[in-house]
Amino acid sequence: MRIRKKNWTETELDTNEFLVREPESFKGRWREKFGNDLPIHLEIGCGKGKFVAEMSKLNPDINFIGLEKFTLVVSRAIRKCKLLEAGDNVCIVEKDAEGLEDIFETGEIKRIYLNFSDPWSNRKKWIKKRLTNPRFLDRYENIFGDRGEIFLKTDNREFFEYSIQAFSEKGWVIRNVSLDLHNSSFEGNVMTEYETKFAGQGMPIYRLEAYYNKRGE
Ligand SMILES: C[S@@+](CC[C@H](N)C(=O)[O-])C[C@H]1O[C@@H](n2cnc3c(N)ncnc32)[C@H](O)[C@@H]1O
Repeated sequence: MRIRKKNWTETELDTNEFLVREPESFKGRWREKFGNDLPIHLEIGCGKGKFVAEMSKLNPDINFIGLEKFTLVVSRAIRKCKLLEAGDNVCIVEKDAEGLEDIFETGEIKRIYLNFSDPWSNRKKWIKKRLTNPRFLDRYENIFGDRGEIFLKTDNREFFEYSIQAFSEKGWVIRNVSLDLHNSSFEGNVMTEYETKFAGQGMPIYRLEAYYNKRGE
């Protein structure tokens, strides 16, 4: 994602109420941060933040965290939360998903959204960066505890097929697969920035839900 620095970037990073600094200090304490016991849903690679900002308004009974690894993109996401007047049930965290277990305790996250994750090349050097690589699925299992679920959307068929195989090999159950989300009966879809772009170009959007259950039930 190519992002230019804007003249408001530093001010937003200094003052924006949606940004969580030192997220490691909230490990095991995210309920205190939100001030309630509501479930926490995490978007990994939230980009410019439209999805989590809108989801927070539509779902006041869920807490949302948008995770993003690039500072400039984080500044866009927190600004978007402000502009859309997102709820106090959303926050943005600057962190690479490689360090998920540094900021979340086992059982703290109930659902992960992977929206238009970078597909990366399927060459050995790059494939391990895919957010559905088994390395990452192990991390997700650790922060889910007994159960958890991933809702995934992508425009990239090869990444989609790779992800189905990765979930299946770990024994996760895949449900509600769509090969053309926007021409399906699915209701309540919240569009992301990338989704708006790709769907506008007439590309099909692939979607699935993958369910993890430690006991294999
Ligand atoms: C293609 S963009 C999609 C953004 C947004 N989800 C959307 O659908 O519009 C992927 C985003 O994921 C972020 N990202 C990629 N790998 C990541 C990682 N390991 N940890 C955190 N963020 C990551 C990128 O910086 C980028 O902003």
